[in-house]
Amino acid sequence: MKILNKHALASFVLLAAAGLLAPAVAAAGEPQLDQAVQQGKDLFSHATFGGNGKVCESCHLAGGTKPGQLPNGKAIPSLNNAAAIFPRFNPKANKVVTLGEQVRNCVAKALQGNPPEYGSAELNAIVSYLTFLAQGKPVDMGGKPQ
Ligand code: HEC
Repeated sequence: MKILNKHALASFVLLAAAGLLAPAVAAAGEPQLDQAVQQGKDLFSHATFGGNGKVCESCHLAGGTKPGQLPNGKAIPSLNNAAAIFPRFNPKANKVVTLGEQVRNCVAKALQGNPPEYGSAELNAIVSYLTFLAQGKPVDMGGKPQ
């Protein structure tokens, strides 16, 4: 009986530890997800999408972590919390825009390239990278860039 109890206690402790550790391991160590984040980061600094030669990082400096300014004075937002503030209402488009749609808009307008399709590895990778940047930031749908 004593041995069984010890056993049961040990199993409980192990299960509790596994339960506590599982989310952290999944978030930090899921290889396919890490790979998508890395691919998104590479695309962010290198992909022209067949456009005018610009890349995301031409405007969104330091991997998107620093704000900037266009030559005409228009603000370029940092993307630190972009994944936490989309979807949001875009008054110019007069509709709600998702993060993926915003990425496609920047490819079409800023890069003058061919936007990656919804569900494509490229778009999913860029969205994964932007979500990685915003990891831990409070969700503030419709909020302001930080
Ligand atoms: C020529 C400069 C330029 C390039 C290149 C560019 N962007 Fe942008 N981006 C902007 C500007 C300016 C805004 C803010 C105005 C707007 O909403 O259109 C913006 C807004 C964004 C936003 C919304 C951020 C927020 O919180 O408002 C995201 C996300 C974004 N860009 C992603 C990208 C990605 C990904 C790429 C590369 C595929 C890219 N951008 C390339 C200029 C650029």
